[in-house]
Amino acid sequence: MKTVHVATGKPYDIFIERGMIGSCADYVKKLTSARRVTVISDSNVAPLYLEKVTAPLKSAGFGVNAFVFEAGEKQKHLGTISDIYRSLADFGMTRKDIIIALGGGVCGDMAGFAAATYLRGIDFIQIPTSLLSQVDSSVGGKTGVDLPQGKNLVGAFHQPVAVLIDPDTLKTLPGEFLTDGMGEVIKYGCIKDAEFFSFLENNDALKSIDSVIETCVKIKRDVVSRDEREKGERMLLNFGHTLGHSIEKLSGFSGITHGMAVAVGMVMIARAGEKNGVTEPGTAERIIRLCEKYGLPTKTDFGFAEIAAAARGDKKSAGNGINLVLLEKIGESFTEKIGFEKLEAFITS
Ligand SMILES: NC(=O)c1ccc[n+]([C@@H]2O[C@H](COP(=O)([O-])OP(=O)(O)OC[C@H]3O[C@@H](n4cnc5c(N)ncnc54)[C@H](O)[C@@H]3O)[C@@H](O)[C@H]2O)c1
Ligand SMILES: [Zn+2]
Repeated sequence: MKTVHVATGKPYDIFIERGMIGSCADYVKKLTSARRVTVISDSNVAPLYLEKVTAPLKSAGFGVNAFVFEAGEKQKHLGTISDIYRSLADFGMTRKDIIIALGGGVCGDMAGFAAATYLRGIDFIQIPTSLLSQVDSSVGGKTGVDLPQGKNLVGAFHQPVAVLIDPDTLKTLPGEFLTDGMGEVIKYGCIKDAEFFSFLENNDALKSIDSVIETCVKIKRDVVSRDEREKGERMLLNFGHTLGHSIEKLSGFSGITHGMAVAVGMVMIARAGEKNGVTEPGTAERIIRLCEKYGLPTKTDFGFAEIAAAARGDKKSAGNGINLVLLEKIGESFTEKIGFEKLEAFITS
């Protein structure tokens, strides 16, 4: 078992072990005084894993309730949260009881938000089952839902009491979502860890996925524990995301997944960095080759002008500009505020 300790305001551990999904009752017992557990999952994950989580909980004497929503980002809204609250209240969940998020990032974000707000906050455990949620969304305490006006516009910071990562669950994850998660994996190498980037270049990440997950989780842990509420360093995690979000937005959030858009965004911004003399030459080329190796796209048909224009509405925008994450070279990143009027020229240059 690999254990990664997270020293946020409320510290917790991330455990990584194959098969551990069946042992979550032990963690609920050890870490909480809960008597009731509500497991929140989606319609793809529940048929595969819900029973594996609920059966041991029932055997251990917990009252167990399950809430299953239709899989997909479309369900990540306040209506679903409201249904979750009803389920929690009907089941008599008290402040001592606990929520378990069993699924990908959509499930974790919603279950976490429900936990952050129900009775002004109850405990929750993350059991992330997609690669993206294992390397990214289950760590760091950001929870929330989308509004019609944009993604993740409502939310709260709420740290879980534990994160249980069972890499065996990836065996059932559809290939496109594995690829999607690899976009974030490559991002970590780009911003913080040149050695890890080389490892991804020279090995098959999917063959050593346990240690890949551990490395990513540690990088995210280090960043968020230094900057829990995104005042500075945490912004580095948005490398490739500003332009990536624009591309997602221009595609109407369909046809291109988040990880794919981030891959294109990383390539564009690395190239722009090179042309503007802040990024070591050859960096974009290495990112392109690595993204291609893992099946991620590296270019888009959208033009620079429309991509720059779409970035204006970005949640991460700061006043009349935006905090761009740039690379000095592979493994070293920094942020720079740039005015919207200069963004197009910067990426076109
Ligand atoms: N909180 C954060 O810090 C943070 C960070 C990054 C992303 N996010 C959020 O995460 C979400 C994306 O997460 P995601 O990519 O995991 O999406 P997701 O939860 O929709 O999961 C992707 C798909 O895989 C299916 N799935 C998940 N695990 C499976 C398994 N083991 N076997 C078979 N199918 C499985 C799901 O049902 C879904 O269809 C977005 O809403 C994004 O905003 C949050
Ligand atoms: Zn992302």
